[in-house]
Amino acid sequence: MTFTAPITLPGLALDVQWYRRAVFYEVLVRSFADSNGDGIGDLPGLIGKLDYLQWLGIDALWLPPIFPSPGRDGGYDVSDYAGIAAEYGTLDDFRDLVRQAHQRNMRIIIDLPLNHTSDQHAWFQAARAEPDGPFGDFYVWSDDDERWPDIRIIFSDTETSNWAFDEKRRQYYFHRFFSHQPDLNYNSPAVHHAVHEVVRFWLDLGVDGFRLDAIPYLYESDEGNGEGEPQTHEFLRQLRRMVDRDYPGRVMLAEANQWPREVAAFFGSEEEPECHMAFDFPVMPRIFYALRSQRVDDLVDVLSETTDVPPGAGWGVFLRNHDELSLEMVNEEVRQAMYGWYAYDDRMRINVGIRRRLAPLLDNARAELELAHALLFSLPGAPFVYYGDEIGMGDNIWLDDRDSSRTPMQWTPDRNAGFSTADPGKLHLPVVQSLVFDYRNVNVESQLAQSRSLLHWVRNVVYVRKAHPVLGLGGLAVVPTSSPSVLAFVRQSAGPPAAAPAVETTDAILCVFNFAQNPLAVTLSLGEWAGRPLVDVFGGAAFPAVPDDGRLTLTLGTQTFYWLAVR
Ligand code: NOJ
Repeated sequence: MTFTAPITLPGLALDVQWYRRAVFYEVLVRSFADSNGDGIGDLPGLIGKLDYLQWLGIDALWLPPIFPSPGRDGGYDVSDYAGIAAEYGTLDDFRDLVRQAHQRNMRIIIDLPLNHTSDQHAWFQAARAEPDGPFGDFYVWSDDDERWPDIRIIFSDTETSNWAFDEKRRQYYFHRFFSHQPDLNYNSPAVHHAVHEVVRFWLDLGVDGFRLDAIPYLYESDEGNGEGEPQTHEFLRQLRRMVDRDYPGRVMLAEANQWPREVAAFFGSEEEPECHMAFDFPVMPRIFYALRSQRVDDLVDVLSETTDVPPGAGWGVFLRNHDELSLEMVNEEVRQAMYGWYAYDDRMRINVGIRRRLAPLLDNARAELELAHALLFSLPGAPFVYYGDEIGMGDNIWLDDRDSSRTPMQWTPDRNAGFSTADPGKLHLPVVQSLVFDYRNVNVESQLAQSRSLLHWVRNVVYVRKAHPVLGLGGLAVVPTSSPSVLAFVRQSAGPPAAAPAVETTDAILCVFNFAQNPLAVTLSLGEWAGRPLVDVFGGAAFPAVPDDGRLTLTLGTQTFYWLAVR
């Protein structure tokens, strides 16, 4: 497979708001491309695929952890923050990745788990051995396991307590995730210092930002529930000041799986900013709920709650990622309905969520895949595509934990799906061979050869989105509709452009989505836009203008959508 020769640029343009326009791609290095035939993806393998990602229109990559790690939690159990896991390559390979990505005007953000380390980290080993030594207070220790009983257990399938006993130190240590991941003690100034050093180390290597893993959980207190404590926000404000001062243009992205207002708190305020970006956890499950319930009211409510963010802040929106589809932020009724629709087999469930990939969740229904992507690419914030979802890759629920949706990328119908030349038995995870999603059917090469494939469709949407900056930068106003199954909103620029644009730009786009499993006619209340002509942004066809009374009636096919430029 060859892609058009990359346009190499002298380097990245200085653009401090790049993240609000960018299309991101989450790529598991371990599962993307194996360059040395050991059955594990690596950095040179990823470098070899940058042309593909550039062709797809990707502006930035998010790499889940690539540090040395015992690998008991997909690398989120870090044993050394200043290195690269040997199976992925070397720091020089990483420098090469950054350089080659930047030449393609593509940015790299890396995952940084700062809440906890692996129990194999030298800091923890020192803390166990020498309680009065320099690392003695790097973790949260207690003589009993009684403290903070109200702090919820996140990995409820595997853990029964947030405390574990250490035989050597003869004390309990606190952990929000697996018991082999002790939480760092942010009450220790030495921890702040060490963490700032780690952040600088990677920024000096040229990364464009960080996904701040599990960021709400840095501090615990007797008064709070250990999620977004005031001191956690204060720590983020300090970190942001350092990043903006010494490394302008680099971003901090919060992973905070919380209710809308609590997630938005991680942006801070205009005067005292915290993270530049935060994942929109509340909106994600409501998209899946709307697809099956055929009702959009929950989606409308949550969109209305999450639009008010400080200037310059940006959401990261996603459909799926390397974790389970989390159902923590929906009520019990919605959760049970979603388990019934999407996780009818017990093996599809984990903790409070569903461990399946996008295409199997949507039963490989092309209309639903298009509708979900169209929404993803038109919501406020930067869209994140999970590797393989652009070709509708399947999953393997017979694998453990979240490995179900972390299997090797399917490049070709050849051995190991073109991911690796290793003996198939040696792959770190087997390639998908299910009836519907077998790699011999679902792979990049075959989809490149079909002009109507999902891959070409997704690429087209990526380019259309990028051609309309208002979809990245604009605000969102929900439009009332006559149907409970139709979501409509206008993405609109904040004001007229400061200077006359060199090319005609669109200031407003009306986005309409039919979640009903039947065609329908719907009336939209578009008072503000009365009299305006509408033009389909994909094909350029003129639509009837908004009538003078602002009441526009459209017909929509089953699970279809429109993006209409408002002239
Ligand atoms: C969040 C990560 O996304 C997840 O994969 C990991 O298991 C937890 N943090 C704990 O590190």
